[in-house]
Amino acid sequence: MSPNQQKINLAPAKGKLAILTPGMGAVATTLYAGVIAVKKGISQPIGSYTQMGKIRLGKRTENRWEDVKNLVPLAKLEDVVFGGWDIFPENAYEAAAHAKVLERDLLEQVKDELSQIKPMKAVFDKNFIKRIDGENVKTGKNKLDLAEQLRQDIRDFLKNNGCDRAVMVWCASTEVYTPFTACHQTLKAFEEGLKNNDPSISPSQIYVYAALKERVPYANGSPNLSVEVPALQELSIEMATPISGSDFKTGQTFIKTVIAPGLRNRNLGVAGWYSTNILGNRDGEVLDDPGSFKSKEVTKTGVLDDIFDKTRYPELYGNISHVVRINYYPPRGDNKEGWDNIDIFGWLGYPMQIKINFLCRDSILAAPIVLDLALFSDLASRAGMRGIQEWLSFYYKAPVVKPGLSVEHDLSVQLLKLENTLRFFTNEELINHLGLTYYGVDEGEN
Ligand SMILES: NC(=O)c1ccc[n+]([C@@H]2O[C@H](COP(=O)([O-])OP(=O)(O)OC[C@H]3O[C@@H](n4cnc5c(N)ncnc54)[C@H](O)[C@@H]3O)[C@@H](O)[C@H]2O)c1
Repeated sequence: MSPNQQKINLAPAKGKLAILTPGMGAVATTLYAGVIAVKKGISQPIGSYTQMGKIRLGKRTENRWEDVKNLVPLAKLEDVVFGGWDIFPENAYEAAAHAKVLERDLLEQVKDELSQIKPMKAVFDKNFIKRIDGENVKTGKNKLDLAEQLRQDIRDFLKNNGCDRAVMVWCASTEVYTPFTACHQTLKAFEEGLKNNDPSISPSQIYVYAALKERVPYANGSPNLSVEVPALQELSIEMATPISGSDFKTGQTFIKTVIAPGLRNRNLGVAGWYSTNILGNRDGEVLDDPGSFKSKEVTKTGVLDDIFDKTRYPELYGNISHVVRINYYPPRGDNKEGWDNIDIFGWLGYPMQIKINFLCRDSILAAPIVLDLALFSDLASRAGMRGIQEWLSFYYKAPVVKPGLSVEHDLSVQLLKLENTLRFFTNEELINHLGLTYYGVDEGEN
C-alpha cells in the first residue's frame, strides 16, 4: 500500500446480483446468452477483462500477476441473474433469434434459460425514439408515477429472484439528442419536472432516477444524455450510488482511441479522418433517424476533437476535417463494416495515409463490455464509491468526468487508471511506471 493511501473496506459479493437492462435487443440478449453459455462450459468469455484479464501487482522484480477476478471480489457468473425492460413483449430467446447475432446452434443450447427472461413493461416516449414503436409500455399519470413503477419493478425483481443487489446497464435504443433545460440542473427542479411531465425529461433519465432511488448503480451504454444530467449526478452522490457513461466503446471508436493517441504521441500531423460504416441491425435503423444519429455523432466526433487538441497543437491538428457517417444497410445485419481513411503528415509536412477496414460484429464486441460494467459497477458500490466512476472510462466513447476535468480517451491510459483503481480497492501498491534511478535512489522495480 502506498503512503497516504486510504484503506478501502470492500464488502464481499454475497448472494445473487441482478443485472437489469432497459432494452433487450441485440446487445442485451447476446450478453445473456453468452453468460449462460459460459456457465454451461460451452463458450469462453472472450473480450471480458473481468473474466480473462490479468493484472501486475507489486514491484516488477516480484513477477506477481493475478487474475482480475481473483484480485477483486466480483460477483461470480453463477450468481448473476438477468432481467430487463423492452417495448416489445418477446422473451430473450425470441429477441435473440430476431437479432440474428448468434448462430441457431448456440441459441438452442441456451433456449430454456433465455426463454424465461421476459421483458418488463418499458417507459417509452415516441418523441425520443422515432423509428420504432411497441406495445409493452407502461402508462402512468405523470413521469414521477412512471419512475415509481420502475422502482417497484426493481424491488419485485429482487424479491422474486432471491437477489441481494442489482445494477442497471442501459442497452436500449439511442434517444434523440436533446439539450438540457432548467429542470435538469438540480434534483429539486428535476423532481418537479417529473411531477409536471416536463417534455425535456427522457425515458432514459427516468430509468436513471428510478435506479438511483433504489441505490442501484447505473451505466449508460448509449450516447443519449442521462448520467450527464447534473440533477442525476447530484442524486447519485446523495444516494451513495455509482454511475458511469456514456456509449459503449466497441468498433470504430475503440480503434480510434488506440491509433489516434499513438499518432499524437509521435507528434504526427493529421489533415483529415473520414469514417464511414454500414450497419443493418435495429440499432442501425434507429440511428437512421437524424435526431438519434445526432446523439451518436456527438460522442463519435468528440473523441478525436479531444485527442487532437487544436489549441495545444495548432500546427499538427489546427485544420482537421473529421467526418463520421453511419449508413443503415439491412443485408449486413449486426455485422458492421467500417472504413477509415486517415490523412496524416510527417517530417517536413510530407503526407501519408492509413486505411482501416474493420469487419466487426457489433454485439459480440459490446456484450463483454456490458458484463464488465455491470460487475465493476457492483464492485464500486461495495467499495463505497458514489457519483461518476471515471475509472470506467475504458469502456466508453464519451467518458463522463467530474465537472471541470478534462477527458482521457487514450485506451492504454484508461486501462492504467482502471488497474490502479483495482489496486486501490485491494490496498495494493499503486504503480506509476516511473522506474528511474537517480541520486542513489533506485525505483527501477516500479
Ligand atoms: N453494439 C454496439 O457495438 C454498440 C456500441 C455502442 C453503443 N451501443 C448502443 O447500445 C444500444 C443497444 O444496441 P442494440 O444493438 O442492442 O440495439 P437493438 O435495437 O437491438 O436493441 C435495443 C432495444 O431497446 C428497446 N427499447 C427502445 N427504447 C426502450 C425503452 N425506452 N425502454 C426499454 N427498451 C427500449 C428496443 O425495443 C430494442 O429491443 C443502442 O443504443 C446502441 O446505440 C451499441
